[in-house]
Amino acid sequence: MSIQPRRVENVQTDKGSVPVYATGIVEQPWDDYSATDHDVWKQLYKRQRRLLVGRASDEFLIAQDAMGMTPDAIPKFAELNSVLRAATGWELIGVEGLLPELTFFDHLANRRFPVTWWIRTPEQLDYLAEPDLFHDLFGHVPLLMNPLFGDYMAAYGRGGVKAHGIGPEALVNLTRLYWYTVEFGLIRQKDGLRIYGSGIVSSMGESIHCLESPAPNRIGFDLQRIMRTRYRIDTYQKTYFVIDSFAQLIEATEPDFTPIYAHLATQDSIPAGAVLATETVFHRGTGEGWSNEGDV
Ligand code: PHE
Ligand code: CO
Repeated sequence: MSIQPRRVENVQTDKGSVPVYATGIVEQPWDDYSATDHDVWKQLYKRQRRLLVGRASDEFLIAQDAMGMTPDAIPKFAELNSVLRAATGWELIGVEGLLPELTFFDHLANRRFPVTWWIRTPEQLDYLAEPDLFHDLFGHVPLLMNPLFGDYMAAYGRGGVKAHGIGPEALVNLTRLYWYTVEFGLIRQKDGLRIYGSGIVSSMGESIHCLESPAPNRIGFDLQRIMRTRYRIDTYQKTYFVIDSFAQLIEATEPDFTPIYAHLATQDSIPAGAVLATETVFHRGTGEGWSNEGDV
């Protein structure tokens, strides 16, 4: 049996009912991880790494290697932190689970990435409904080693604090940006489409689905289009947005969003699976073949 986190309450959000945990920073209780916990880490790590070579972006794979994570045991946050701090000034902090939005934004703005300390059970290898240590650490942390992506995450945190002050609609817009980039983003490399989103790299099924299934739409990154697009949290995504580089992501999100939020307040949202008449959809391969295969 693994140790259980203290769940505080459930709150209704844009994403449905989500559990909220104690908001404090907790010391990673590394000595308390069971052999089963370490084995879950090992199985998931090996399975995903095998799958991700050739599917995840080179940046992700390089960053993960540079961090010194291994399948052997659940990493110690303190050890990863010395590498991470030296590389980009980011550090991990241990938490019980999802945080209130403003708390989360404030951590990111200050280059602290909250990592859930507990790991899923062996019955949950393929899916669980909320972030655990494997999703947070394996999925999110490697790219914090990348200077451009690290800057993007901190800028997102500052933008989150600002959007929180503007109002709930602005927050919905901004959260969609996080969802379709940080969690479920694809990137076009010279040799084709690759994954960089954490929600994908920590999922065996979605790592294959997002690139190989003909079902989802893969559409070029467009800030306002993303901010209008609803999303699903209980199935694979119906739409993925594709960036050309992390530099593109930073450039596109540099402008002040305040007038953009005001404009979007006058626009309808777009269903998760829709393709607009003017949009083209990517295939895998070289990423060069464009077509209008999607549903309008
Ligand atoms: N430029 C955004 C703003 O003014 C901040 C931001 C940067 C948001 C990067 C997301 C990502 O609100
Ligand atoms: Co996540």
